[in-house]
Amino acid sequence: MVSMTFDLTKTAIEAVEADAAVLILFEDEQGDRPGDRFAELTDGLIPELYKRKEFAGKFLNTALIHRPTGFRAGRLLLVGGGKATECTLPRLRRVGGAAIRALRSAAKPTIAIEVPGRESVESEVQVLIEGAVLADYAVDTYKTIDVDNKAIAGILLCTQEGAEAGLARGRAIGESQNFSRGLVNDPGNVLTPTELAARATTMAGEAGLEIEVLRQPQLEALKMKTLLGVSQGSDQPPALMIVRYRPENAASEQHLGLVGKAVTFDTGGISIKPSKDMHEMKYDMAGGAAMLGAIRALAALKPNVAVTAIVPSVENMPSAKAQRPGDIVTSLSGKTVEVLNTDAEGRLILADALTYAQQLGCTHLVDAATLTGSIVVALGHLRSGAFSNNDNWQTKLLASAAAVGEKLWPMPMDDEYMDDLKSPIADLPNIGSRWGGSITAAMFLKQFADPLPWVHLDIAGSAWQDKDAPDLPSGPSGFGVRALVDLAMKM
Ligand code: BES
Ligand code: ZN
Ligand code: ZN
Repeated sequence: MVSMTFDLTKTAIEAVEADAAVLILFEDEQGDRPGDRFAELTDGLIPELYKRKEFAGKFLNTALIHRPTGFRAGRLLLVGGGKATECTLPRLRRVGGAAIRALRSAAKPTIAIEVPGRESVESEVQVLIEGAVLADYAVDTYKTIDVDNKAIAGILLCTQEGAEAGLARGRAIGESQNFSRGLVNDPGNVLTPTELAARATTMAGEAGLEIEVLRQPQLEALKMKTLLGVSQGSDQPPALMIVRYRPENAASEQHLGLVGKAVTFDTGGISIKPSKDMHEMKYDMAGGAAMLGAIRALAALKPNVAVTAIVPSVENMPSAKAQRPGDIVTSLSGKTVEVLNTDAEGRLILADALTYAQQLGCTHLVDAATLTGSIVVALGHLRSGAFSNNDNWQTKLLASAAAVGEKLWPMPMDDEYMDDLKSPIADLPNIGSRWGGSITAAMFLKQFADPLPWVHLDIAGSAWQDKDAPDLPSGPSGFGVRALVDLAMKM
């Protein structure tokens, strides 16, 4: 991946020197601005395209015009923003992404985009840059032959207003989300818990964050036995990352804890998974990757609140040393757990991590985890489930997610669901019945998150996308980074 350059310019889009100029046009604005300003310039070409319905401004549709009259650039890309009144910032982010995906090529063009200027230009610049950075991401880092080599060399945003802060924010957030996607894309043989800790350490050094990594001996000394029980079947040692962001002058007493599941490969352990699609379980560390991406961005954006990312990482393997179904382990909290299914391992490592987050002094918690297949059945690959013990805190996170175009859905947490989570011989079993599996998983976590305000995001469906979209390639999505950044910035 070639890294892009980003700039702002006050030069009008038609006069800008770039390989391609991009105009964002709307469904219902074909006659007036900006169509008509360009109607003249292009000799009536744009209204003609609308009339012939070749391009009608539909959301994420594009039309590429070669050697356009009236433009200095050799290409003119029209990209549809949909109905002008519905083109919110989350939609504009996607429009920016669709423009980049339409123009990425081996020629590595420079492109100029006219900022629509319908709302705050700074916010528009931010989301256009985010969309561009996310769209330029490629998963083919391991290819040595038939490399498609597509990229964009640089982006120039045309606007009359200063928007440098929006540009910097957009870059920090987009690149941090891509950092998270890169971790998720790496396979289990490359990205072991030890390697994840090494990547987190490099990232922390570059971002100016403090990091501490607890290894096997320290985890044993701390008695994190639900975590260690999962890890014991693997030759790869576990790692618990603690990454700290501390503001220069904390405006509040609040301390946000971001806890993320990082199972670098989940075979299921002795309760082994079917081999079909097991390779997908390299993305079982996406929750941890989201937390590392979020705190990386926060280091640049500098919120006024203390933030600690807590990322427990293990590999879940079957072996002669592996945890058995029926084993009983004592968690850091003191609660005992009967491990009825070794494939329900995420909640076991999160149990100790959530207790540890409390011991570290966090006042508010969010966890993200590819926790259950059952959330994929419920919500598909679009939305993540949001479970919480505190309506106020959940409402804040739902609002942040909506503002940044990450789709959540609130899930129920009635006390009665605990009836399904009873063990005759330990405090808790690690699984309930088949039904409502994502809810019993969340109820299990709640036993370790209470009494702090806490939201659990089950991102098993949203963390990995099977299909290309007009604005994004298939593969790791980096889900959660933007919502968590927004949440911390508003604390
Ligand atoms: N990592 C899986 C959940 C998962 C499934 C993530 C599909 C992404 C896609 C998790 O550790 C798991 O195996 N959960 C089990 C729990 C069950 C044994 C109660 C599941 O969901 O089947
Ligand atoms: Zn599992
Ligand atoms: Zn798992």
